[in-house]
Parts: sequence; C-alpha cells; structure tokens
Amino acid sequence: MQFNVNPANSQDASVIVPGDKSISHRSVMLGGIANGCCNISGFLAGEDCLATLAALESMGVRIERHTETDLSVYGVGLRGLSSPARPLDMGNSGTAMRLMTGLLAGQSFDATLTGDSSLSGRPMGRVIKPLTKMGAIIDSDDGTPPLVVHGQASLQAIDYDMPVASAQVKSAVLLAGLYADGTTSVSEPAITRDHTERMFESMGVIVSYKDNSIGISGGQALEACDIQVPGDLSSAAFVILAAVLGDETDIVVESVGVNPTRTGVIDILQEMGADISLENTRLFGREPVADLRVRSSVLHGRTVDPALVSLAIDGFPVLFVAAAAASGTTTFSGIGELRVKESDRIAAMTAGLRGMGIAVDESEDGAVVHGGSFSAAKVSSFGDHRIAMSLAVAGASASGPVTIEDVAAVDTSFPGFAKLMNSIGHNIEVGV
Ligand code: S3P
Repeated sequence: MQFNVNPANSQDASVIVPGDKSISHRSVMLGGIANGCCNISGFLAGEDCLATLAALESMGVRIERHTETDLSVYGVGLRGLSSPARPLDMGNSGTAMRLMTGLLAGQSFDATLTGDSSLSGRPMGRVIKPLTKMGAIIDSDDGTPPLVVHGQASLQAIDYDMPVASAQVKSAVLLAGLYADGTTSVSEPAITRDHTERMFESMGVIVSYKDNSIGISGGQALEACDIQVPGDLSSAAFVILAAVLGDETDIVVESVGVNPTRTGVIDILQEMGADISLENTRLFGREPVADLRVRSSVLHGRTVDPALVSLAIDGFPVLFVAAAAASGTTTFSGIGELRVKESDRIAAMTAGLRGMGIAVDESEDGAVVHGGSFSAAKVSSFGDHRIAMSLAVAGASASGPVTIEDVAAVDTSFPGFAKLMNSIGHNIEVGV
C-alpha cells in the first residue's frame, strides 16, 4: 500500500483524531484484571490496541464492542486470567508486548508472546532483566520475541533503577509488582508518560512517589471504573504540523490528551514558532485534555533541549519534518531510543527527507536537519506508521507529487488518516 501525495490546499476545520494508543492499551489490560465492568469510550480501534484486546479475550476476559470505539470490559480480578489456547500475537506493538510480559510474569499459567517482523527485532531484554530479578521465568532466544513467560513464578518486589527512560519498562515492572510480595519501585532517569500510574489510581490502587521513583505494593485489587480515552497527541501532531505549514489555516483538534508527560512535541513546536494554543482544558478521569487550536506559522530552526526527549518521544518523526520546513538548522540530540522503535526512526527520517531534497547530518544519537524545500520524490516509510504519516505531511508542501511506499502500518495507530487529512484540504490518495 502507498500514499500518493499532492500539494495541499488547507482549509479551516475542527477535527477529532483517534483515541490515545497508550491509554487504550492500558484500559483493556487494567480493565481486564479489575473487579467489575469498565465502560471505555474513545478506544483506539487500531491494529495495535485490537491485538491487546484479543489477547485479553483469549485469557478469558469478556469484552463487548458496542461500536468501534465504545466497549465494556468485564474484569476477572487480579487472579482471574486463564491460560490462552494459542500464542498471543502482539502484532506491531512494543507497548502491548512489554506491558503484557509484565502482566503475565505473575500468572499461574505459561504464555507465549509473538509479533510481526518489526516487533520480532525489538529489544525485550529491557523488560526481561528487571522481571527476572523479581523471580519471573521468561525464555527468549536472543532478547527478542517470541517470548515464553512461565507461570507459577513467585515474584518478589525490587527497587529498579531503570537504565533507559521507558514508560513501557516502568509499566511492565509495576504490573508485575501487583503480583509481587512487598513494594516494587522503579526510578526513572527522565520523566516518562505516567498513564499506568494515573489509571491505577483511578482504579483505587495506591501508588507512591518519591523523587524520581514510583512504587506499588503487591496484592492490591483494581476496582473497575469508566474510562474516556482522549485523542492521541502523537496522532494530533501530524494534523498540528499540517496546520502550521498550511496557508492561513486555523484548525482545531478537539479533545486531545495533554498529559504533561506527553506535551514535549507541543513545547518544541512552539519554541520553533508554531502558533498552538490549548483551549477548554479539562479532565477525562485523571487525564488532562484540551482542544488544540493551530494557525499557520513560520518555523525557525532550534537546538532542541535533550531534557524534552522522553516527553516528545513519538513526536520526533514529525519534528524532523518541522525542522526541514524551518529556516536555519535544527539540532536533535539524545534521541538514540528512536533507533529501536517500529523502525530505526533516525535512519528512516534521514532517508525520507534526503529523498525529498533536504540535507540531514545523521549521528548515532541525533541529527542536524537543514531547513529547505521539499521536492517531488518516491520514498519509503520502512513499514513504520509514524514515518509514513510524517512524510505525508512533508509531501503536502512539496513542489510535486510524493509517493510514500509501505504505509499499511498507519492502521496500527491512526485508522482513517488519509481521509481525515483530506478533510482539511490535503490530497492523499491511498494506492495499492
Ligand atoms: C509507550 C511508551 C513509549 C512510546 C510508545 C508508547 C507507552 O515507548 O514510544 O509508543 O505506551 O508506554 P518507551 O517507553 O519504550 O520509550
């Protein structure tokens, strides 16, 4: 599948992006082990979250889909999951694989986790190591999927000093901590998204915080609660940049999650000159939400503060495009984690932007992007949803047609991306 992108003629509009991927995964995992029924609205019906949903169903959790995005999860309680008949296929999703490994570590049955070719190459040692310290028994050939998580392990609490800033690792350890004796704590080298902690608290679990460390005592029951999933800021980022690069545009993206552990992408774009304002700020449960109003603006290159990296992590592909469209140069550093995402995102964005006539100097954990103008090109997404969508936004400002190959993975996080973009005046044709 490919995107054939022609220049955009942006229009003013108010749009809604699909639900937050991180929160959607957690809503069915935590809902699945809660006591009672969680009614979830705004769920992301993308392939990644549907893989998590199917995994919970195959472990005995009843899930009723009322609509694509509204569902009820009938929790089976902390000890109520049952042995799945088949391996659990986590598709393209690192979040699903890593959080599920933490959840499975304390169960009474064995389970196998598999994934697609991208996920099968991603590092799982980062969860295997702390979980093994807790007493989990996990088999993996070389630290990558498939993983076999053995049941009947008796888990002990640990204090884990996490070497990489990863919300997935933190969440996996905290989930296993629910099944461990004692109080498990994770200290993080930089703040990472805290959706697990917030959802635990919404379900009555006591979470403790001390300096940069988050703690949870084992054996706590989760009480079901209703969950309204906000729009995904990481998806909104494509619309935001499209609006910024448009001609006299004024676009509102409604009800987007603005949890402060996620808003680095807004901060960086604003520092570059983007006109983005947060309106109607409110809460969906414990998650802050706002309508984001974005007007066309002129971007300037910056040296991006590495302290913002973990707060903007999934926003970097789109920030590369912002940097390419800005005047001057933009320097990104401390972004080595991008090399182990759904693709090597530093290499993928460097190749994509170079293909469109932009000069990029790539380094091991960063890049310097020289602002310029996009030319007609045929480029690849390397099978990565965020690369595909970022290059589609760039393509809309190009001097001629841009073809982006291998874009099927867009459905993992942003079903209906091309349709939504076309509703704001873009010109993206989905070809085979
Ligand atoms: C996620 C955490 C981030 C992010 C991913 C979703 C999560 O990964 O890149 O898309 O839901 O916890 P890391 O925590 O590994 O950086």
